[in-house]
Amino acid sequence: MSINYGLRGVVALESDISRIDGAKGILEYRGYNIHDLAQHSSFEEVVFLLLSGYLPTKSELTEFTIELAERRELPEKIIDVLCNLPTISYPTVILRTMYSYLGDLDDSIFMINPQESRRKAIDLIAKTPTIIAYYQNIREDKPLTHPNKNLGHAANFLWMLNGVEPDKIDERALDLDLILHAEHTLNASTFAARIAASTLSDMYAGVVSATGTLFGPLHGGASQKVIEMLRELKDKDTQEIEEWVENKLQAGERIMGFGHRVYKTMDPRVEELRNAAKQLDAVKSNNWLALSDELAEIVYRKKRIYSNVDFYATSIYANLGIPDDQFINMFIMGRIVGWIAHIMDQYQNNKLIRPLQKYVGEENRVFTHIDDR
Ligand code: ACO
Repeated sequence: MSINYGLRGVVALESDISRIDGAKGILEYRGYNIHDLAQHSSFEEVVFLLLSGYLPTKSELTEFTIELAERRELPEKIIDVLCNLPTISYPTVILRTMYSYLGDLDDSIFMINPQESRRKAIDLIAKTPTIIAYYQNIREDKPLTHPNKNLGHAANFLWMLNGVEPDKIDERALDLDLILHAEHTLNASTFAARIAASTLSDMYAGVVSATGTLFGPLHGGASQKVIEMLRELKDKDTQEIEEWVENKLQAGERIMGFGHRVYKTMDPRVEELRNAAKQLDAVKSNNWLALSDELAEIVYRKKRIYSNVDFYATSIYANLGIPDDQFINMFIMGRIVGWIAHIMDQYQNNKLIRPLQKYVGEENRVFTHIDDR
């Protein structure tokens, strides 16, 4: 019995949602290159593509954008709970809890068919930014800024978060970030979503499983660790950064925002995110990019590993004024689309996911009654 620890290199299923060529640094959603999508589409268009399998016409996109915008409002019961939660809680834990409660409020929670799945999908994608922004409003003791139907998904989130409409550069940077995070084959959180769906559990359960899995620092949780690292390095000179990296590597520690299970060359999303981070840095007069580039060069020189999607996304979030502990939720705002596309795919072609293990404990032990131990 051979074991692939961490399921490294194991092909678990077939999917037509996205494709990675880790050796060449290629990522495609439904066959479309990520660079084309990043440069020429909107998040809404990518959501349509991932859920429906084809690019929308103009009228389909308009209709879909309106539908998403109209489903942003939260049920009163969710708002009541949000308002009564501790303001010191971790925002991703709150989001995970609200996904569960949304499921509880759904009369058709256990109905699994394409129409019901689509309704739940739109609801979950549309309401995620509202949950995140409302909790942030509440933490900051500010009145809730309600969704604005006239704004796109990214712009509306920034509006709800800050109470002012974002400028075009901020809106575009977040839109791009969401496109680039939307889907990424069988990453750990998507796999978790598919495992839950493979038991024919409800879509909310799949999203809760995925949220809990993404939260860890080896996956989406890395984004918060990256900003903590950049803040620590901000006032250090090149020599000091070199020493910091060297010490980490010598101690066998991970440098957050670097390395990837599948990419053995540059992740194509990194280039797009770096360009957006560069534009924002110039406008906001920040220096995140120079520091990030310097760190990336040192880590590559010393360990031959590239930065990953979490690395430059961090500079974008910091420049947009998003609180550090909401960075993981930014990732989820995009990735929820991929989770749901995979959950729907799993329902369509279901086979219970249940791997084997190799037992390494003792066998045939003699049972001793509790009185005789
Ligand atoms: N810092 C230092 N060394 C690293 C890093 C890193 N970030 N990533 C990999 N390595 C090294 C390992 O120490 C190992 O070196 P060795 O062969 O000399 O022992 C080698 O690269 C291979 O590492 P593995 O752990 O086998 O690679 P794996 O595919 O299991 O891990 C992972 C991938 C978890 C992403 C890893 O690169 C990591 O821990 N990165 C830091 C956390 C991070 O940024 N996570 C976000 C990933 S992207 C995402 O989920 C959105």
